[in-house]
Amino acid sequence: MKKPIRVAVTGAAGQIGYSLIFPIAAGDMLGKDQPVILQLVELPVATQALGGVAMELEDCAYPLLHGIELADNPRDGFRNADVVMLVGAKPRGPGMTRADLIRDNGPIFTGQGEAIDQCAAEDCKVIVVGNPCNTNSLIAASRAARVPRANFTAMTRLDQNRAVGQIARKAGVAPADVKDVFIWGNHSDTMVPDVSLATIAGKSVREVVSADWLATDFDKTVRTRGKAIIDARGKSSAASAASSAIDHIHDWYLGTGDHKVVSMAVPSDGSYGIPAGLIYSFPCRITAPWKYEIVQGLTVDAATQTRMDASTKELLSEREAVKDLLA
Ligand code: NAD
Ligand code: LMR
Repeated sequence: MKKPIRVAVTGAAGQIGYSLIFPIAAGDMLGKDQPVILQLVELPVATQALGGVAMELEDCAYPLLHGIELADNPRDGFRNADVVMLVGAKPRGPGMTRADLIRDNGPIFTGQGEAIDQCAAEDCKVIVVGNPCNTNSLIAASRAARVPRANFTAMTRLDQNRAVGQIARKAGVAPADVKDVFIWGNHSDTMVPDVSLATIAGKSVREVVSADWLATDFDKTVRTRGKAIIDARGKSSAASAASSAIDHIHDWYLGTGDHKVVSMAVPSDGSYGIPAGLIYSFPCRITAPWKYEIVQGLTVDAATQTRMDASTKELLSEREAVKDLLA
C-alpha cells in the first residue's frame, strides 16, 4: 500500500470545495491506488457546515480516504500537506471583473503563504483557484521562501477545458478527440487561447473549423465564459472549476497521456519575453511526476504576441495593486 498523500483544501465547504473533495477522495486526482488524507480548511464561521461535509465524506466510505482532518486556520490545516489547493476566497458577482476581487482576496494569500512556509511539506505543490488566481498565487509564493517558487501555480486549466469543449461541439467530435489547445496569460478576459498546436482527431484544427470562427466566436466565448456562467446561474462556475483543478493536479503528478501540452499558470522564467516571476499561463509539458517545463521554441505570430503583451501588462498592474502584500 502506498503512503497516503496529504491534500489540504481551503474553502472546503464552499461551492467548488463541495464538488472537489469527493472526487479527490475517490482517487480521481492522484490515482486509483493512491491513498489520501484530506485536510479541510474553512473560516471559523463555516465550521459547522464543514463538519457536515466531513460526515458526508465518511458516509461515502471511500477505500482510499485514510483520514479527514478539519481546521479553521491555515497553520493547522496545512500541516505536512503535500498538495495545497487554495480555493477559499470570495467569488465575483454580476458586473464585476475578477481583478475587482484583488483587495478583498489578496490578503487571504499572505497568511496562507506564510502557513505553507511554516507548516506544509517542504516540497508541497500549490494550486491557487481563488480569484484573481494568478496574482493570488504570486502573493502566496512571495510569502513562502522555503518552498520552491516553481511549486506555486494557478489554474487556467478550466479555460483550456472550455476551449476544448467549444471546439469539440463545433467539429461534432468528442472532447477526447481535441488535443493540445492551450492558454497564454492571465485567467481574465485578456487570456489568449492558442490553437496553433491543436488537433482534432489527428488533423490540424484549422483544417476542420474555420479561421473566422476561431478568431471570433470561439475566442470570445472562451475568454468570457466565466461571466456567461455567472449571468446564467447567478453564481460562478463550481463543478467545472473543481473538475479542472482535479485535472491540473492529476496531470502535474501523473502526466498528460497522449496530450503534448497542458495549460498551467506558473512563475515565468522569462520565456517568450514574459517578465520573470509573473505567474503566467504557458503551454507546459510534464516531464516526470510533479515536474513541468514550459514548452520552448513555439512560433508566436505578431497578433498573438500583442495579446500576450496585453495580458502581461494586466498582470503587472495587478502586481502593482498588491505590492504591499508581497514579501
Ligand atoms: P464560495 O463562496 O462558494 O466558497 C468559498 C469558500 O471559501 C467559503 O466556504 C468561505 O467560507 C471559504 N473561505 C473564504 N475565505 C477563506 C479563508 N481565508 N480560508 C479558508 N476558507 C475561506 O466560492 P466558490 O464558488 O467556491 O469560489 C471560490 C473562489 O474560486 C472564488 O474566488 C472564485 O472566483 C474562484 N474561481 C476560480 C476559478 C478559476 O478558474 N481559477 C474558477 C471558478 C471560481
Ligand atoms: C470562472 O472562470 O468561471 C471563474 O474564474 C469565476 C469567474 O469569476 O469568472
